[in-house]
Amino acid sequence: MSDPLRLALVGCGRQMRQNLQPFLHRLPAHQTVACVDPDPDLVASMGAVTRATVLAGAVEELDLSTIDAALIAVPPIPSFQITDYLVRRGVHCFVEKPAAPSTPALRQLDEVIQGSGLHVQVGFNFRYAETLQHLHALTAAARRAPVETTIDFYSRHPSAPQWGCDTTLESWLRQNGVHAFDLARWFSPAQVRRVDAHAIRNGEHRFLINVTLRHEDGSLTTLRMGNHTKSFLVGLSVHTVDGSRFTAGSLEQIRLDVDAGRPSGTLLHSTRNLDDGWARSGFGPELAAFLDHCRGKAPTDKPAPIIGDALGASILIDQALAQLGSAPHLTAPAGGNGKSRRADRVEVR
Ligand SMILES: NC(=O)c1ccc[n+]([C@@H]2O[C@H](COP(=O)([O-])OP(=O)(O)OC[C@H]3O[C@@H](n4cnc5c(N)ncnc54)[C@H](O)[C@@H]3O)[C@@H](O)[C@H]2O)c1
Repeated sequence: MSDPLRLALVGCGRQMRQNLQPFLHRLPAHQTVACVDPDPDLVASMGAVTRATVLAGAVEELDLSTIDAALIAVPPIPSFQITDYLVRRGVHCFVEKPAAPSTPALRQLDEVIQGSGLHVQVGFNFRYAETLQHLHALTAAARRAPVETTIDFYSRHPSAPQWGCDTTLESWLRQNGVHAFDLARWFSPAQVRRVDAHAIRNGEHRFLINVTLRHEDGSLTTLRMGNHTKSFLVGLSVHTVDGSRFTAGSLEQIRLDVDAGRPSGTLLHSTRNLDDGWARSGFGPELAAFLDHCRGKAPTDKPAPIIGDALGASILIDQALAQLGSAPHLTAPAGGNGKSRRADRVEVR
């Protein structure tokens, strides 16, 4: 493979503009040779920023002998089609989550990739977030025994059905909540035997979701998620069998809340003040890992999230949706007068 790595940026929308390209720009030994988007204004402005010589409306227009790898940030249906197209023609791919619209599509993609020798990485950036990497390492020994993990994942969007899903709930789970399911599989890789899902809904488009996963090794993961929130939040805590609890309440810090049953509060890790988000979000390190994997230079003890992981998360989402899909708009507990109150009055501060 030639050095520098020759890249195509496919999909020049928000995620490519705001996160991927700015972080990619800071990494060495690559060159963006092509930008692709059916929107001529978006492709032109990405071309100007990257100085790519090829601007195209579709991947089919590219001469793939000039491209080693692609970053793909498009909606799930074209995501699947483009990744399938490029992998069948020998191009390494970094594809934004969820990578495909459904479990069968992800399974199909996984089969195409098997044995291709290509690196196809999924944009589960929180696996590369500095604080969560530390938490993963700090709890590695304890997680050999069953643990109780709680994952908080809240974001306001999607707040309407999008990208081929009929409901906001499904859109949110497949296209955003999928991060939380991936983190669950990363911290507790043992097979999930049972999924229990519940929701509090505020009308059709706002909800809080609680999913419990029972793993084969006895571990329990609770996902607390939803779009009924004011702002974005990711947090994760691991409760070990000696009664200690390691908590990253956000992507900034890790505290030992409880030390073998005793209240503690010791600060174990903190991100630098005024950091620029490079490592906090994981966007920088995930792209660095992608380029290293494409060059065959990535450490073997740090596997990247791949289509098999997107597939695993999607299967869990199917199970959660099967329980949530038919749930009526739930009611809050009965008030003092014995009458039930509708959950659409629940307020989130
Ligand atoms: N990892 C994260 O935290 C994160 C955050 C935001 C979005 N994403 C993911 O990134 C992807 C894109 O999201 P976005 O917010 O940038 O959406 P967007 O709508 O802003 O951008 C998508 C772009 O893809 C282009 N596109 C559509 N079909 C195409 C095709 N066949 N070929 C080339 N380009 C095509 C559209 O014209 C558009 O410019 C989604 O899969 C989303 O889930 C990931």
